[in-house]
Amino acid sequence: MKAVAWHGKRDVRVDEVPDPAIEEPTDALVRITTTNICGSDLHLYEVMGPFMNEGDIVGHEPMGIVEEVGSEVTNIEKGDRVVMPFHISCGQCFMCDQKLYTQCETTQVRDEGMGAALFGYSNLYGAVPGGQAEYLRVPQAQNTTIKVPEGPPDERFVYLSDVLPTAWQAVEYAGVPDGGTVVVLGLGPIGDMAARIALHKGYRVIGVDLVPERLQRVEQRGAEVLNLDEHQDDLAEVIRERTDGRGPDSVIDAVGMEAHGAPVGKIAHTMVGLLPDAIGEKIMETGGVDRMNAFYLAIDIVRRGGTISLSGVYGGTADPLPMLTMFDKQIQLRMGQANVKKWVDDIMPLLTDEDPLGVDTFHSHQLPLDQAPDAYEKFQKKEDGYVKVLLKP
Ligand SMILES: NC(=O)c1ccc[n+]([C@@H]2O[C@H](COP(=O)([O-])OP(=O)(O)OC[C@H]3O[C@@H](n4cnc5c(N)ncnc54)[C@H](O)[C@@H]3O)[C@@H](O)[C@H]2O)c1
Ligand SMILES: [Zn+2]
Ligand SMILES: [Zn+2]
Repeated sequence: MKAVAWHGKRDVRVDEVPDPAIEEPTDALVRITTTNICGSDLHLYEVMGPFMNEGDIVGHEPMGIVEEVGSEVTNIEKGDRVVMPFHISCGQCFMCDQKLYTQCETTQVRDEGMGAALFGYSNLYGAVPGGQAEYLRVPQAQNTTIKVPEGPPDERFVYLSDVLPTAWQAVEYAGVPDGGTVVVLGLGPIGDMAARIALHKGYRVIGVDLVPERLQRVEQRGAEVLNLDEHQDDLAEVIRERTDGRGPDSVIDAVGMEAHGAPVGKIAHTMVGLLPDAIGEKIMETGGVDRMNAFYLAIDIVRRGGTISLSGVYGGTADPLPMLTMFDKQIQLRMGQANVKKWVDDIMPLLTDEDPLGVDTFHSHQLPLDQAPDAYEKFQKKEDGYVKVLLKP
């Protein structure tokens, strides 16, 4: 089959690889019909290289048709239309019982000290072959699939793999009070969808980014927007002026570790990228520094006693935090990978023909799988209006 494989920093290729097959009685084999590129894939493309192996198949936002199931998988069958959550979870352990699927004790990557295994997401998360491919082996398929109805096109449901539940959890974790205000930092797919969900829930939303068309998309949905490029030095001040001098109740960081405007982290990232893998991996694990500009902004912007919700991914261990300010402002902080299936029942009623969240038109590009290398490059550079790419194997 064809699959998108990692070959090095900023180097993914469409390779011809062996077809996957059922290996365990809890597996399913799915023929992929749509598979997205995510902002998280850009971390693998750039800074997380030391944790990747040449030839790793990437991708974690797939959907398709079940081809075959293992003997222990009884809740889906050949022909079912399914979306796969980006993480792999059993549905039966202590953590899954609490809907903390990202911490599943059956699939935790204990050797690396990490939570549940993820599709296509480096040695840190189990080096499981990912979903930017014609076929995908789905482990723990009894719980790692979401059955969706026939009829509407794939784009109606494919964001259940990641964007929708991640944005939903970001808004939940933000704990915005009724009638409250939330600032969303970063208006890539995650921040954009978080803004839509927050607006849908009746909150006032102020979105921040530096890419004009991303700001425009969110403004068109009814949010106020601010271009960071025009407010490099006074963003927090301008937001306080707009929120009774106090700051918003909540801030969602949908940027993560590769924020613009963070020179120290940028130098550290570049250095790690130049080192041999073994040394780079050690440095990332023990001394890694993120580009924390967005998180620092969030700490500055949020009102006293407010909540910061981190959905942007951070990966460092030596990140200096302004504890004095965080403690004194009594900031509440919630974070983590999205526990996808916890939110599906809340989201499903919004995936109707009326399309209140605008999922049917959310993608900026639909391309054949073959064009993945070019799409990664343009998505990373935010060129040509690339916001969300759906690949069609
Ligand atoms: N928690 C989860 O489960 C989960 C799931 C998916 C993605 N993520 C993470 O969420 C983040 C966003 O994902 P995405 O797909 O939207 O990616 P993306 O890279 O397309 O979006 C990031 C956006 O942030 C903007 N930005 C950069 N620096 C900024 C700054 N200092 N202030 C404000 N905006 C800034 C960029 O212009 C870009 O539009 C990534 O870190 C990704 O890894 C987390
Ligand atoms: Zn994703
Ligand atoms: Zn589990």
